[in-house]
Amino acid sequence: MSEDFLPIKSIDHVELYVGNAKQAAHFYRTGFGFSHTAYSGLETGNRQSASYVMEQGKIRLALTTALHPDSPIARHCHLHGDGVAVIALEVPDAASAYQETTHRGATGAIPPTRLEDEHGVFSFSAVRAYGDTLIKFVDRSQYRGAFAPGYQARGSQNGAAARSRHKGIGLAAIDHMVGNVELGAMNRWVAFFAATMGFSQLVHFDDQDISTEYSALMSKVMQDGTGKVKFPINEPAEGKKKSQIQEYLDYYYGPGVQHIACATGDILSTVKQLRQNGIEFLRVPTTYYDELESRVGKINEPVDELAELGILVDRDDEGYLLQIFTKPVEDRPTLFFEIIERHGSRGFGKGNFKALFESIEREQALRGNL
Ligand code: FE2
Repeated sequence: MSEDFLPIKSIDHVELYVGNAKQAAHFYRTGFGFSHTAYSGLETGNRQSASYVMEQGKIRLALTTALHPDSPIARHCHLHGDGVAVIALEVPDAASAYQETTHRGATGAIPPTRLEDEHGVFSFSAVRAYGDTLIKFVDRSQYRGAFAPGYQARGSQNGAAARSRHKGIGLAAIDHMVGNVELGAMNRWVAFFAATMGFSQLVHFDDQDISTEYSALMSKVMQDGTGKVKFPINEPAEGKKKSQIQEYLDYYYGPGVQHIACATGDILSTVKQLRQNGIEFLRVPTTYYDELESRVGKINEPVDELAELGILVDRDDEGYLLQIFTKPVEDRPTLFFEIIERHGSRGFGKGNFKALFESIEREQALRGNL
């Protein structure tokens, strides 16, 4: 477990396959504050797909769409709707990452590949994770171009203008990415991340922690050796009515990424701007804020402002955290985002699960899926 056979530098990017990347790019720019920094498509000689790289802080999203119906990207969208197809991790050696993980039981998806252009060498490989999700290993240490070979830079790449634009509305980094898997499959994927990638289990939640009158789920959080990369895995648990995880699985047509949590240093300002930009969030009843400080203790943020924005608070032994969840960002009730600001706590907001899941259930009921 302590052997670092898979050193990970960072989450390099997350690639979403979408039905219309041009329109998705507009949504992530005007809604979430991302900047468009690189493009690949017909104009750059890509005859198969179009891809928009969007950046904010250290977060990089690639929004990719197919240009033809027989493309695997088109098939992915047809089956799953818009969603996360690739979680890319930056590693020092993409070939070694492939060998080490496949040797330990991961299924190879893209064997080690080197792409070269006038900007250098870009190396990558990929293995299969839950559902149709790929984990890609990227080595860009010898590459100086925009994103990857085949992409052209968009917008100003240097200088104060680019730096301030990349700050966007304060989304700084990916805090964690959660996968939903089928009933009974959570432990298999926990074992996958432990065995093939050397991750260890940080925490687990069972259906006692995460259960409301209707909905229940189980969750285990896997993280890499440095604690920089955290992948919680959820599975549905038996409840009176349909688990929110089962609703996801039914509409995504299989396992996949449920939410991407983005860290901010100023959640009040970030969420204020997201709301102004039209991003919709789950709401908890205003009674949540009655006696909030008697539950979570003293916090730096004014409770009335948190209440106005619908931001949730949780505390554990190490500190507290502030968090809020968007509604799904597609018509299918699948992928959504979390905005999180940590003040010492390394948890996931266990104290908010009940209020939150009751809110999710109200939305599920509106969709006729409870
Ligand atoms: Fe989360």
